[in-house]
Amino acid sequence: MREQTIFNDVITVWFILALIVFAILFFIPAPYGRHTRKSRRSIPDSWGWLLMESPAVFVFGGMFLIGSYHDITAIVFLLLWLSHYIHRAFIYPFLHRKSSKRMPWIVVVMGFLFNTMNGYLNGYYLFQLSGGYPRAWMKDGRFWIGSVLFVVGYVVNRTSDSVLHKLRETNHGQYGIPQGGLYRWVSCPNYLGEITLWIGWAIATWSAAGAVFAAWTIANLAPRAWMHHKWYREHFADYPPRRKALLPGIW
Ligand SMILES: NC(=O)c1ccc[n+]([C@@H]2O[C@H](COP(=O)([O-])OP(=O)(O)OC[C@H]3O[C@@H](n4cnc5c(N)ncnc54)[C@H](OP(=O)(O)O)[C@@H]3O)[C@@H](O)[C@H]2O)c1
Repeated sequence: MREQTIFNDVITVWFILALIVFAILFFIPAPYGRHTRKSRRSIPDSWGWLLMESPAVFVFGGMFLIGSYHDITAIVFLLLWLSHYIHRAFIYPFLHRKSSKRMPWIVVVMGFLFNTMNGYLNGYYLFQLSGGYPRAWMKDGRFWIGSVLFVVGYVVNRTSDSVLHKLRETNHGQYGIPQGGLYRWVSCPNYLGEITLWIGWAIATWSAAGAVFAAWTIANLAPRAWMHHKWYREHFADYPPRRKALLPGIW
């Protein structure tokens, strides 16, 4: 009971922090990629991504190993999580990022703490505090709707990231105007995919830990999509005028 109360308090504080970060990021973008500011302390971009994303694999995987519940539903959740994070931590940095670019240490440290916290909260809840999900959970509508959203978000995120990668290759390392797929409607479909994926996760796990992670993803990516959108408009006179930042036809 006490454990549950402490966990709920931590989740509440973590959610309030997400709201604060959401507001701040509309004015001060996280300093990586096109929004990098000069920093004396930085590391190669690919290694920065590996370092900051890998706790999501190790902490969540570790929580599974030391947790009390290892039934089929727990294994499905583990596989969903790892399907995203093994790619994000170990493949994406070397396939899609440029080692010649640099990432400030501050971003790596913040990302490391962020992924450690989310891996811990989600893993601890799913494999310990929840008391385990019954096998029947996999027949529940919430599990199915959430899982479908997770897979749709995953595909949208991965295919949209690939468009950027190919554009970078054909554009001699320079930024260009991405075309095709959901780029017809929004500037950042990779972010839209990522947000959909974690909303799906929150629904499939029907957990406060999942919901706060989805909130954090929105807090990180919605302001960044807005900043990217503004940046495209400032840098490309021929930027498609009807394209929105993140939500087709809306925003
Ligand atoms: N869950 C979360 O809270 C969270 C937070 C952050 C990121 N992410 C995910 O991590 C992934 C990467 O995020 P990000 O913020 O780096 O995405 P991004 O700004 O869209 O950049 C992705 C990659 O494409 C390159 N790129 C972007 N726009 C380009 C263009 N117009 N022309 C050519 N190349 C372009 C970038 O180069 P530069 O780096 O040189 O700009 C970078 O290598 C995304 O899938 C995102 O959803 C998740």
